[in-house]
Amino acid sequence: MTIKKVAVIGAGTMGSGIAGQVANAGVEVWLLDLPSEGDRVNALAERGVERLHETVGLMSKDFEKNIHVGNTRDDFQQLADCDWVAEAIVERLELKKVLYKQIDEVCSETTLVSSNTSSIPIKLLVEDMPLSFRKRFAITHFFNPVRFMPLLELVRGEDTAQSVMNEFDAFCDQQLGKGVISCLDTPGFLGNRVGCFAIQAALQAANEMGLSPVQADAIFGRPMGVPKTGVFGLYDLIGIDLMSDVAQSLVNTLPADDAFNVEAPKLPLMVEMIANGQTGNKKGQGFYRTVDGQRQVINLQTGEYSKAERLDLPLALKAEKEGVMHLLNDDSIYGQFAWRVLSRTLSYAASLIPEVGETPLGVDDAMKLGYNWIKGPFALIDEIGTDYFIQRLESEGREIPEFLRQAAGSTFYRVDDGKLQVRVYNGSWQSIARPKGVERFNETRRTLTPKNTCEVASWFDLDGVALVEFHSKANALDGDSMAILGDAIDHVEAGKLRGLIVHNDAQHFSCGVNLQAVRGYFLKEDMSGLDAFLAHFQNTVHRMATADFPVVAAPVGMSLGGGFEVVLHAKEVICHANSTMGLVESGVGVIPGGGGCKETLYRWHEKLGSSDIGEAAWKAFMNLGYGRTCTSPVLAAQYAMLRNNDRFLSNRDRLLPAAMAAIDSGAGQVSFDRPDLALPGRDVFQAMIKWLEEAHALGKLTPHNVVVATELARIVTGGDVDAGTVFSEQDLFDAERASFLKLVATDATRERINSMLDTGQVVQN
Ligand code: NAI
Repeated sequence: MTIKKVAVIGAGTMGSGIAGQVANAGVEVWLLDLPSEGDRVNALAERGVERLHETVGLMSKDFEKNIHVGNTRDDFQQLADCDWVAEAIVERLELKKVLYKQIDEVCSETTLVSSNTSSIPIKLLVEDMPLSFRKRFAITHFFNPVRFMPLLELVRGEDTAQSVMNEFDAFCDQQLGKGVISCLDTPGFLGNRVGCFAIQAALQAANEMGLSPVQADAIFGRPMGVPKTGVFGLYDLIGIDLMSDVAQSLVNTLPADDAFNVEAPKLPLMVEMIANGQTGNKKGQGFYRTVDGQRQVINLQTGEYSKAERLDLPLALKAEKEGVMHLLNDDSIYGQFAWRVLSRTLSYAASLIPEVGETPLGVDDAMKLGYNWIKGPFALIDEIGTDYFIQRLESEGREIPEFLRQAAGSTFYRVDDGKLQVRVYNGSWQSIARPKGVERFNETRRTLTPKNTCEVASWFDLDGVALVEFHSKANALDGDSMAILGDAIDHVEAGKLRGLIVHNDAQHFSCGVNLQAVRGYFLKEDMSGLDAFLAHFQNTVHRMATADFPVVAAPVGMSLGGGFEVVLHAKEVICHANSTMGLVESGVGVIPGGGGCKETLYRWHEKLGSSDIGEAAWKAFMNLGYGRTCTSPVLAAQYAMLRNNDRFLSNRDRLLPAAMAAIDSGAGQVSFDRPDLALPGRDVFQAMIKWLEEAHALGKLTPHNVVVATELARIVTGGDVDAGTVFSEQDLFDAERASFLKLVATDATRERINSMLDTGQVVQN
């Protein structure tokens, strides 16, 4: 069956998100909620669509046309020919049960039905329903925000038909882009079972050890391989009331002796905070708040707010860069906090095998896809060493979970005969087999040896194709990254390999050129060194564009600044549907100096298809001046950041196989012909400067914004030259470098770069 029409019932946080993702897949969806009094009978469902726009749940506004809003009184008949009805109403069993009866009366015998419940066992949901219904019912547990969280936990009931599971799996994986994990019907499934435990363990530890939210979040964040929101920031994001309810509902369903129960209680202060409406970001105040531009943090003992001072912890930086062992080996309060949280969480995860699954793979996948952890708990135990972990637990007289004991002297993952394998509860090993067309480079990498590697980048021979991976902090690029890219190009050019793919299986492809490197040049006043670095960058990406072999960029997450300049020079881009792209250099007082200005101009020229280069110059000027970023490939194509042959896929784990296939089919390998351009010259240049001055006079641009944008105007128009003056591609590269150097010589640009590096703040000077 192909799912062509979907209904989502319940247009709250989750229902609207699910409807949005179905709409993003180009599938018609009805979003129903209860009818409202008064004129706007569909107000609740309409609010769901508004919420989608507020949370960037759609790839672009155009996708709203796939969503019809309605209500469960007037529009229930729409369900009759739906292929899938997704229930996402409030977490109340009796309400859900009533709804299923109504759905069963209207829907055909082939309609798939699912619930998004996070805590009600499937057995209870369908206990009153006939077998014909139970056969086509499953739990599809999405994570919030639905568009951006890749995890989908799929739970089978006792009577659910295998064909129904296959349908859900295929649709959610290929159309909705989810990493589908089949889970047993255990409380909290996989993600919330371990994720809530980790959050609660960190919360209790911080409170009992006297750490402030800022201190706790500095550790329970990137240094531990979890998102930088930390624990208190995450509580604020989810909502302190909602997160407390989730914890409580887990307590209600778990056995009395489950270790979670010890971690679950609210902090005394949280009871007050919930009563006062200090429930997090949605109310503008929680553990953190921002008052008059100042970020403040609550004192967990007194409930008073004070300025959240930035905490620079060398230990945290070291752990983030080199691994969590640095935290565990540290005997400061931070190291003790890290050990307490990690040891409890990892032990708890180990204690869940085999209850939640025979192998650790589901738990690890769920924590990566549903909680954005860099590594799952078992991969983390492998990192710190099973023996270290067991011995330290034993030295504290703590219980060792059976599955952890089984792994003593060994690991949970291993590479055997070129295949990545995972430990099974009974002591055997299982090869990790992903569905056809799915590949995670994080896993594949473990079976390969890099052909060339340095701290910031590596390249591999992946079945005869050179795969370049950037892997510095935020995957920032410097001369060494370019050297690795260049070396890979050399090898393909020498005829040793079939093509080149630039890809990584990280949160972000690359957030741009390493500003530390740029600062290094200006601190030494080494402008010729900086010029040489830029020339090297330009030359390397130009080689990608003009190579006589296929070159594919397969980016995920953010590709910004220099990172996006690399993407811009691939012959074909196959990116993830949630990619964010843009040339944001103006924010730090420079201009794209790695071919970004020239590509933006060429692309607008190509896209507009007109002979009026002036219009293309204006469009390029606006993209670059505003540092425009696009939050989806659909928007990026509208702003000439992607070309017609570029593609996107909804499931990021399908990018690499698609890129490999593209190398061999050569389908998208469009030529990168960059003819000389007759630029519009001084009239348009002057018009842009006038525009900037007017915007400045109106207070819309700062003085240095005008300086930076003047350089952009100079590049895209040719500057103070006669109209029609011909510029080659190399002339444009040269113009970029000249403007870049000019700007880096100014105090205002240096102030912006210093601020970004030292405080993470953009300076408006
Ligand atoms: P919500 O409270 O934001 O939205 C629920 C919506 O259902 C409301 O708009 C309400 O008017 C509507 N509703 C209630 N009874 C209805 C009925 N009989 N017919 C039609 N509409 C009805 O709730 P949320 O957060 O979206 O949760 C929905 C489901 O998803 C729950 O089962 C929850 O446990 C689950 N879930 C929630 C997550 C979250 O982060 N919020 C994450 C994963 C699952």
